[in-house]
Amino acid sequence: MNSAQGIPVQDWALPGEPFRLVAVAVDAADWAPRLPVAARRRTERFEDASARARAGASEWLKACWLPRELGLARVEFETGANGKPLLAGAASAWGFNLSHAGAYAVAVLARGAAIGVDLESTARKADIERLGRRVFSESEQAWVRAGGTEAFFALWSRKEALLKALGCGWADGGIVRRTRLEPVAFQMEPETRVQVWSRAVLAGAYALAVARAPGR
Ligand SMILES: CC(C)(COP(=O)(O)OP(=O)(O)OC[C@H]1O[C@@H](n2cnc3c(N)ncnc32)[C@H](O)[C@@H]1OP(=O)(O)O)[C@@H](O)C(=O)NCCC(=O)NCCS
Repeated sequence: MNSAQGIPVQDWALPGEPFRLVAVAVDAADWAPRLPVAARRRTERFEDASARARAGASEWLKACWLPRELGLARVEFETGANGKPLLAGAASAWGFNLSHAGAYAVAVLARGAAIGVDLESTARKADIERLGRRVFSESEQAWVRAGGTEAFFALWSRKEALLKALGCGWADGGIVRRTRLEPVAFQMEPETRVQVWSRAVLAGAYALAVARAPGR
């Protein structure tokens, strides 16, 4: 565990993984006073206190943790086609992404690659059957039928990380139902050539996945 500006930052990457992966607890701080004005304003749009805290942790990772990590005074972002925040200016050689769920916000950083991360609380209520039919390919649906809720969240987080690495998110229906993700800790997804690392974390309370695509 490291500390940045008094916030405990947990290192969630495993040895040998080609990215930096960190997590902060969303209740680690009162985020608002630590944030630049524009970032603070974005958090104020959330009326629900836990959603506001998750947004606060997310803004802190972008505005405070990230510049320190990259040794820059500040980082600039531009927005990709489907809303993906992309690093710009002096940080443009780096891929970055983040996810927030339940009690944690996670950030991933890798040089020279497009990267995506997803964290899913396995306690979240989800209509597995209906969602599965909508977004999973045939082989993926078979995996979920065999593995139930645990398999559903494991697959959902892999799929979302992959879609976030590509930057399209769920908007690209052509990719969403075509992937062939598998129940393994690491794979190169054959349709997209995106690499996906995944595992359960915090005693199975969350499913975590990181995906890396060529390019930025
Ligand atoms: C990107 C997306 C998968 C995120 O889903 P979510 O459940 O809100 O997820 P997470 O907490 O995992 O991630 C949120 C973060 O992803 C990042 N993000 C936003 N759009 C992104 C995109 N297209 N690709 C990658 N990352 C994206 C942001 O940093 C965001 O956090 P922030 O707003 O606090 O900065 C979803 O919003 C999406 O598919 N967006 C694309 C547009 C779209 O299709 N919208 C309809 C949704 S069905």
